[in-house]
Order: sequence, then structure tokens, then C-alpha cells
Amino acid sequence: MPVYHRLGELPSKRHKIYRKPNGELYAEELMGNMGFIGPASLLYHLRRPTAVRAIRCVKELKYEAAPSEPLRHRHFRTKRLEQTGDIFADRIPLLFNNDVSLSIVRPLSETSDFYRNAQGDEIIYVSEGTGVLESIFGNLPFTDGDYLVIPRGILHRYRFTSTQCALLIIESAGYVRTPKRYRNEYGQLMESSPYSERDIRCPQDLQSKDEKGDFKLLVKKENRITEMMLASHPFDVIGWDGYYYPWAINIRDFEPRVGRFHLPPPTHQTFESDGFVICSFCPRPFDFDPEAVPAPYTHSNVMSDEVLYYANSEFMSRKGIEYGSITLHPDGLAHGPQPGRTEASIGQKQTNELAVMVDTFRGLHVSREAADIEDRDYYLSWLES
Ligand SMILES: [Fe+2]
Repeated sequence: MPVYHRLGELPSKRHKIYRKPNGELYAEELMGNMGFIGPASLLYHLRRPTAVRAIRCVKELKYEAAPSEPLRHRHFRTKRLEQTGDIFADRIPLLFNNDVSLSIVRPLSETSDFYRNAQGDEIIYVSEGTGVLESIFGNLPFTDGDYLVIPRGILHRYRFTSTQCALLIIESAGYVRTPKRYRNEYGQLMESSPYSERDIRCPQDLQSKDEKGDFKLLVKKENRITEMMLASHPFDVIGWDGYYYPWAINIRDFEPRVGRFHLPPPTHQTFESDGFVICSFCPRPFDFDPEAVPAPYTHSNVMSDEVLYYANSEFMSRKGIEYGSITLHPDGLAHGPQPGRTEASIGQKQTNELAVMVDTFRGLHVSREAADIEDRDYYLSWLES
């Protein structure tokens, strides 16, 4: 995480005696990745976070590839997916490899259950919905267009203030971070970065619940959900500090770059991880030379599969897509504007497109669920009619 943050009450030194008013010790917990050398935070609990009453397996999560089909461009209409019951256990996987997976969830209702992903970091793109991401680090209000970055291991749950909600879940095996080329050698986002620390929202309003009882925690590990019955309310942290916590940035706070002539997709990069990057295509003026061609040139994404999630129904180079569409342009084929789109872009002054791109460096599998909502003629859409 880019910046040091702290909330609540802390002892003056790490690992020193720190007692409650009744004389008992607070339970100090280090949470960080890569052993003891990665980004980490120290938390102080009212009770031991290790106290578990019961454990049982509740669900195997299936990442099943659809039967193999000829290589082609693909288009999936996620609006056709049903609403599902549980925001954590009923996510619908669409595309995946060993580095990253993309899922969609439209939960029918809120759950009071807690959740921890112990196998990946999560970047949640809030396509629709408002609410609060509650975690042991405090509350993080969210709205549509937010990216919620939840590093692995962080116990959390969602509270919605809207009736409709649609989330794109990008789950990463690697640690999700700001692109290295945006940071100076001291870790600060540079003046040339398309967003700054000021755009990044950190948890606030730390709640410290002092409650014993049964509290259900769902833990995802090895593509399985294990239910753990905790012996006390997990939001019992009275203070924490460090670099490891959930954070948010809204896609509209990404400041798009524009040139005299077309700038390539890395201009739109928002996050990096291992094996993939995430870019944001935001409303912006088009390239400003009178002879500029605003639509992108045809390109072959060699050694990369390109995924686009269309967060609204407009995209300058594409036709036939709708809000919620996902296109997959795999390595092995060229892609670019469909017939008429390049010509139509000339002279246009701006675009209102809003899209999230995930470029993976290894090939993606298409799930059975994605194949069920596929627009199977998409690969023909570059033919002159
Ligand atoms: Fe592309």
C-alpha cells in the first residue's frame, strides 16, 4: 500500500506491554505478506483473533473451463447472469488462469457473515451500488466506479445502502500495487502519475466491538470456502498502524492522459500485479491534432490476452457491446475498431467511455458460466456487412 496509515489507540512502541483498563493485555497481531518483510500492519485486539469454536467446509468453488473451442475473439454479456445469493460464496467465475481470475456477483441480499480471502488479493470494481466495506481496519464507504483493493487475509464484509449492486471481482495471486513507474525511489506517486495519494481513500471510523458469541467467518483457500465460528466479534481492534489495509480509488479520479495523436493503453494503467495489469478507460477529450485518428489502430497483443469490462455502453472503437459486456481478445489474433468505427472517430472531440481493462501475460481460460452467456458471432463483427 502506498502510504502509512494509523487509526485508534496505539502503544508508544511495538511489542511492549499494552493493557486494557481492566489490566488484561491487548492481543497484538502482525498482518503482512511475504513473511515478515512485505507490507504489514500491527493491530491491537480486545480478544485473541485465534479463538475459533468450530470449523467446517461449506463449499468447493469450481473454476471449470468450458470445452475447448477454436481460438477466436469472444464477447460475454454479463447482464444475462442471474442474481446470486451470497456475495462471497456465489461469485460467478468467467475468466481465469493461475495469476488472476475475473468473476461477477450481483448479490440478492446483504449478509452479516465475515469473509477473508486467503489465496488472493481482491480488486473489486463497483459497477453498481453504494455502501460500506467494513473491515478490522475500519470502515471504507464506497460508491459506483470505485476500485476496492483488499489485500489477502483481511477480514471484511459489505454493508449496502443501495438495493442493486454489481461487482466485478478481479482476484490476484500476486500483491496488487500502484504501477512502479508512477512511484519515485521513495515510494511516493510522482507528479506525472495519473493519480496521487490524495485520490486514495483509506479506512476511517474504526469500530471496536466488545462482544462474545458466535460469529461466522468464511475463509477462501485452495478454491474452497471454510466456515469458521469465531468466539468473539472480529471487529474488536482498538488501534492499528502500518501499510497493509484495504483502500479505494474511484475510476473517475484517474486523470486520463491525452496527446496530439493516439496514446497506447499503458497510458491508462491503474494497477499492476504479477502476470497482469489493470487499466481504466475514462471519459476524456480525444487526441487534438486536426489529422489525428482518435480510434486505436489495429493491434496484435502478442504474449498477452486482453479483457475489457464495459462499465457503460459506450466504447469508441467497438460496436455491439452493452453495459456489462466483457470482451476477450486473445493472443494469436489481431483486433481493432470494427468497420466504420475508425472513420466515425475522426473529428470527434471527446469520448464518454468507461471501461476496465485487464491484460494478462498468460492465456486465460473461459469458464462454463461465461460460455453460457457468450455472443457467439462476435468474432464475425469485423467483416464488412
Ligand atoms: Fe486492444
